[in-house]
Amino acid sequence: MIVGSSVGATNTALGRPIGVFDSGFGGLSVLRALVDLLPHERFAYLGDTERYPYGPRPLSEVAGFAMEIARFLVEEVDVKMIVVACNTASAAALDQLVAEMPVPVLGVIDPGVRAMVDATENGRVGVIGTTGTIASGAYQRAASSAAPDMELHCAACPGFVEFVERGETGSDQVHVLAERLLSPLSDVGIDTLLLACTHYPFLARTIGDVMGKDVLLVSSADETAFEVKRVLEDSRACAPVGSDCSHMFFSSGDVEWFRETGRRLFGPELDKVVQVVWE
Ligand code: DGL
Repeated sequence: MIVGSSVGATNTALGRPIGVFDSGFGGLSVLRALVDLLPHERFAYLGDTERYPYGPRPLSEVAGFAMEIARFLVEEVDVKMIVVACNTASAAALDQLVAEMPVPVLGVIDPGVRAMVDATENGRVGVIGTTGTIASGAYQRAASSAAPDMELHCAACPGFVEFVERGETGSDQVHVLAERLLSPLSDVGIDTLLLACTHYPFLARTIGDVMGKDVLLVSSADETAFEVKRVLEDSRACAPVGSDCSHMFFSSGDVEWFRETGRRLFGPELDKVVQVVWE
């Protein structure tokens, strides 16, 4: 259900928006890459800030949230594709979303693994994500099928998401937390670290400081955007040049907070935010 002004613009078939969602602000790091690569597309971003963080929740609960959001995007916003810009929700629900939604659905895990495999030179890599993502084994499985010889070191980083949601991306406190959480990865010889939570690119300076300059930080954002472009082109679903590309933003939490913090993280294109209330 939506509270506030209606979404309801009628879109031409190809000009329909692409839905993007996350538990909160994290997916804005993926949206940035999407908007930059696909300037003629219109995006509808939903941050489920009322129910973040997803990371500590059981995967079955996160899967329920993901299905509810996807149905909202399809039924109320009429999206032509969905990007699950959240690793935890991708780990919990991607297969179910792909099977049940009437539009293409893409996640961030396979694109993240591709980015990591392309970047590493010594074949020793790290993956950091939420407790839910790391415990799901989704990265361990995807990496061992993409590059069986790669040596993978995983670490959960509980607490990082909360700093980003508070808009606190460079404080001394987050630095201290990063030193503690990343210490298991500091002496295992990795040359690449995948930020396998879409919130973490907003902490890249802190994580980079702690890991040092010999470790390359990569995220799934650019690879995900390339994959979306490929799917649009293959299915001849690209928006025509000159289509309405005023993006839409939805939040299930405090919309003023979402607008204010979202603009700091994403930029001024994030303007009006529509309230979503789950039943
Ligand atoms: N940004 C999310 C992810 O990529 C979810 C973070 C959370 O809500 O715990 O996993």
